[in-house]
Amino acid sequence: MNFNLNEEQKMIRDMVRHFAENEIKPVADQLDRSGEFPTEIMKKLSELGVLGIPIPEEYGGIGSSFLSYIVAIEELSRACASTGVIVETHTSLGSEPILDFGTEEQKRKYLPRLASGQIIGSFGLTESNAGSDAAGMQTFAVIDGDDYVINGSKIFISNAGIADLTILFAKTDKEKGVKGISAFIVEKNTLGYIVGPPEDKLGIRASQTCALTFEDMRIPRENLLGKVNEGFKIAMHTLDGGRIAIAAQALGIAQAAFEAASEYSKQRVQFGQPIGKLQGIQWHIADMATEIQAARLLTYQAAWLKDQGLRYTKEAAMAKLFASEAASRFTSRAIQVHGGYGFMMEYPVQRHYRDAKITEIYEGTSEIQRMVIANNVLFR
Ligand code: CAA
Repeated sequence: MNFNLNEEQKMIRDMVRHFAENEIKPVADQLDRSGEFPTEIMKKLSELGVLGIPIPEEYGGIGSSFLSYIVAIEELSRACASTGVIVETHTSLGSEPILDFGTEEQKRKYLPRLASGQIIGSFGLTESNAGSDAAGMQTFAVIDGDDYVINGSKIFISNAGIADLTILFAKTDKEKGVKGISAFIVEKNTLGYIVGPPEDKLGIRASQTCALTFEDMRIPRENLLGKVNEGFKIAMHTLDGGRIAIAAQALGIAQAAFEAASEYSKQRVQFGQPIGKLQGIQWHIADMATEIQAARLLTYQAAWLKDQGLRYTKEAAMAKLFASEAASRFTSRAIQVHGGYGFMMEYPVQRHYRDAKITEIYEGTSEIQRMVIANNVLFR
């Protein structure tokens, strides 16, 4: 077993870490407060090639491993969870489905622009009555000549406010449940594609989460992604990869909270000594260090399996479950280590605490991850 990143993965980690520490971390609190989309940061990340890390060079990406991308998401989220999820949604959910299921023509048309950051991607699955039960969607697509006509709506769509392209899921056969859903590539300037205002959220506030409405929206037949009525599998396969990236996001947030708590415990003096010398604080620090390392191993292992072309559905769900719950727990403990100061908005641990919660919810709640793990353990 080799637990080391290879030279290329280390280079990408160091490059993203350097950029994140110098250009993202200093403005992360301000972005959180204003809820402003990090336009300049995204422009620079595009120039660095970060928006196309796992996309092959022939389609305009860097052509590196999925693990390189995972390490990049961890580093971005360590500085700013909003930036982490913007890049994650764009790559895992907006670009990878085209790479995995697109025709050669679709790949050539969209991937170079996605990988270079010229256009930003998003993923339209969730509806007001179809969250965990994704197959319960009521957005419908019907064939009319050379077009599909789509009516319906989606909610909580990450990146929707700024995305140029959405991988959209709609029912194409009302009678068939999971086997009656298809995936489509939809461009934002399509007539009948309506973007709602940004949601006011507890965390990841600089990422633009909006509702989408489709009113007699016509898209050409060639924008069907994959085969008709096979969209649910595309969604599930896409979410498998996305879940590893959300585990990496949780890991980055937990790491940031751990570093803040460690630093504070070395500097803060009470009872005549740094509080890091007190057993009560040491237990928090030791638990954090141990479980963050465990989360990292689970996350990197799931990414490695994906890079090897092996099955990783179960491992992705395990990584997301463990890392997201650890992030929620340890961002809370990081506040505890800071005492009253941790509750103040001027200390970033409160931002990590708010940002961590969503990692237990999006791309499948912790309950859904447990369902996926149990089904794989028991019945596969
Ligand atoms: N890969 C490929 N195919 C898969 C699959 C996978 N990982 N998991 C299931 N499938 C296939 C199955 O094989 C099955 O097809 P067959 O009958 O031909 O074998 C079909 O899909 C249905 O499978 P299930 O019976 O297991 O499906 P289900 O209806 O019981 O639902 C579920 C499973 C796990 C609950 C699923 O609905 C789910 O993951 N729900 C959560 C949805 C979710 O994560 N939403 C996130 C929204 S996106 C988001 O959050 C992005 C963001 O903001 C950043």
